[in-house]
Amino acid sequence: MRNFLGRILGFESPLLQLETRVAVLMQQEITHQALLAVRDAQVREAQSFVREREATLRERESVVRERETTIELLKAFPANTDTGTWQGITPIAQNMDLEATILAVLPQLDGWCTPRKALWLAGLIQNNSIRRIGEIGVYGGRSLIPMALAARGVAGASVYAIEPWDNSVAVEHATNAGNDQWWREVDLGMIKQKFITAVLSYGLSEIVKIIELPSNHARITFTAATKFDLLHIDGSHAEPQALADVMDWLPLVAPGGIIVLDDIGWKSVAKARDYLRTQCTVIEEVEEEDKCSYGAYRTLGIEQTAHTAAPQHEMA
Ligand SMILES: C[S@@+](CC[C@H](N)C(=O)[O-])C[C@H]1O[C@@H](n2cnc3c(N)ncnc32)[C@H](O)[C@@H]1O
Repeated sequence: MRNFLGRILGFESPLLQLETRVAVLMQQEITHQALLAVRDAQVREAQSFVREREATLRERESVVRERETTIELLKAFPANTDTGTWQGITPIAQNMDLEATILAVLPQLDGWCTPRKALWLAGLIQNNSIRRIGEIGVYGGRSLIPMALAARGVAGASVYAIEPWDNSVAVEHATNAGNDQWWREVDLGMIKQKFITAVLSYGLSEIVKIIELPSNHARITFTAATKFDLLHIDGSHAEPQALADVMDWLPLVAPGGIIVLDDIGWKSVAKARDYLRTQCTVIEEVEEEDKCSYGAYRTLGIEQTAHTAAPQHEMA
């Protein structure tokens, strides 16, 4: 009332003045708090930028360390001048992107993986946060090295190379006369040497773990506790061994992980392929022009089991 009269009579009481001052101060406080919140956010952003930069720096330092290790290993690894097995591997340029790198290394490697399949495998790794990779049947690394190059950018990645490089294992189960004869005679010792040279030359010695055993022996060295995110099965194409590899190793692939099977168009691989079709969802089955074929299958999630979920296709 007094304030009201004061306004009408043209003067403000000290109480009104005080109230006005308090209101102004409160408004100022709100403004300051808002400014503080903005500054805090800016500080947090700057801190996270610094942390990111530090992580990049650490990553680069680890690449430098890896390169130094490779140089040391190559120095320690004697060249085999008699057979020339160490010749012909050109280390890759560091500034090339993954696709260009894979296309550049592929012709230097022994094996059968096509450029399209190599890039497809690399894409599976890059697009599915894959860290733990395995391959049964490595030969000269023509599929494993591209996978390892793709995995190199993934923190904590490892690539298990399961391969006995043993002619008697390669022909343990018959396929056809011509194929078996070829596998009896090929110099697998030399193929292994060239593979190891490639692993060292391309700076992959820290992530590639070689298990020089037939798949059924290697299988018992793995426990069910550690699962693969991606397993490429490209070992013996004889019907019993191809089927055994798929059945024995599928439980070692993480729920929602990927199993890739090579040569799904071969008659002797059909049972293994059909087993995967019933136990997993089909991600993609590819047949290239020259009849080279392969498929990717996703294992069922934790909540599903092979008995409760019907096979489905992610892509036709
Ligand atoms: C078709 S080659 C692999 C090709 C290679 N992945 C590529 O893309 O070039 C098959 C390989 O499987 C290996 N192999 C045969 N029987 C095997 C077994 N029981 N366990 C593991 N590897 C086996 C052979 O020694 C051979 O090197």
